[in-house]
Amino acid sequence: MGNGSVLRAGVVGVGNIGQKTHIPAYVNLPDTQLVAVCDTDSERLDTIAEKYGIAKEYRFTNHEEMYANANLDVVSICTPTWAHFGQTIAALNSGIHVMCEKPIAMSTEETVSMVKVAREKDLSLGIGYNNRFSIESQTLKSYIDDGVLGELYYAKCGWLRRRGNPHGWFTKKELSGGGPLIDCGVHALDLGWWLMGTPQPVSVLASTYQKFGNYDVEGIGQYWAMSGNKEGVFDTEDLATALIKFSDGSTIFFDVSWALNGENSFYAEVYGDKAGAQWNPLNIYGMIGKNLANIQPVLNQNINAQEAKIANFIGHLFGREQLLCPASESVAMSQIVDAIYESGSTGKAVIIEPLQL
Ligand SMILES: NC(=O)c1ccc[n+]([C@@H]2O[C@H](COP(=O)([O-])OP(=O)(O)OC[C@H]3O[C@@H](n4cnc5c(N)ncnc54)[C@H](O)[C@@H]3O)[C@@H](O)[C@H]2O)c1
Repeated sequence: MGNGSVLRAGVVGVGNIGQKTHIPAYVNLPDTQLVAVCDTDSERLDTIAEKYGIAKEYRFTNHEEMYANANLDVVSICTPTWAHFGQTIAALNSGIHVMCEKPIAMSTEETVSMVKVAREKDLSLGIGYNNRFSIESQTLKSYIDDGVLGELYYAKCGWLRRRGNPHGWFTKKELSGGGPLIDCGVHALDLGWWLMGTPQPVSVLASTYQKFGNYDVEGIGQYWAMSGNKEGVFDTEDLATALIKFSDGSTIFFDVSWALNGENSFYAEVYGDKAGAQWNPLNIYGMIGKNLANIQPVLNQNINAQEAKIANFIGHLFGREQLLCPASESVAMSQIVDAIYESGSTGKAVIIEPLQL
């Protein structure tokens, strides 16, 4: 991308995350222009297109037509998970860089194909792991990279919700690929795994449970997806827990729930032989002299991690920045997710073989 050029951006799926993150980012970033939008819900499509002044000929209900006619440089995929694979491959085959929302895809097989096609076409494929961009994440990662924590050998991470399943397509497995594990679990797992230095997973022992389903509780916030599953099918797990071992000898203990009779928490803790750390609020468990000491860095800078992930992708396309969430790093995440579901269903440990890409 040459200096001074402005990238032509499109968004497929103008529901929650499309509206809240991707569309505003492409409108606000200095080197992108939102030129086209696509959604199978033509009413929602028109409402959003009107709001952002997108001409009628740049509104599409079919992504292939948008790719063929809108002359895009970059597209965001913000649709339910089942659609990510086909819409990403089609974009790459049309010569368009892709920013795909998490989870990257329904399976490792799909993930590997997406990574391979992006590589063959020499195009960029970024994934929306916004938690890597927060001030706590960036600060802690810089300490880890500088050796402050020493050798990391154990981490705990997870996202526990007492009652917090999203409604709509999220609870129907054929549309989502699974429940809290593949939805919010991948955020927490990716964070812990990235802080640990993205080690190669070798085995997983996991349990999955469905104890709540469509619960009936009043007085709590609800996340309503804007699409899918009007019939209210709930055929996914609502808790997953796993022990994941890596080739460098390190271990992650992980759990995630949409419903659990316990406290809400989104946590990551990493443990090294020089110091340990809690991610948020950032707290370093170290030593001063011969004393144990807790150090809490002062972090009053506000980073909007959702905006930052799109800005990083665009900065990368212009060659200004390294891509922080490349799709290639989602292969191990997909392998872990698949292994957790397999182990949860068989009750046995699952061995993960490294993949040559
Ligand atoms: N990074 C984050 O923090 C974050 C937050 C929320 C959602 N997400 C992810 O974003 C994606 C979308 O989630 P959401 O909550 O916005 O869902 P949503 O249901 O609110 O929006 C999805 C939109 O896609 C449209 N759509 C469905 N099938 C389509 C198709 N084949 N072609 C074009 N449009 C289609 C729907 O009409 C809807 O407008 C999911 O992958 C989800 O996991 C990420």
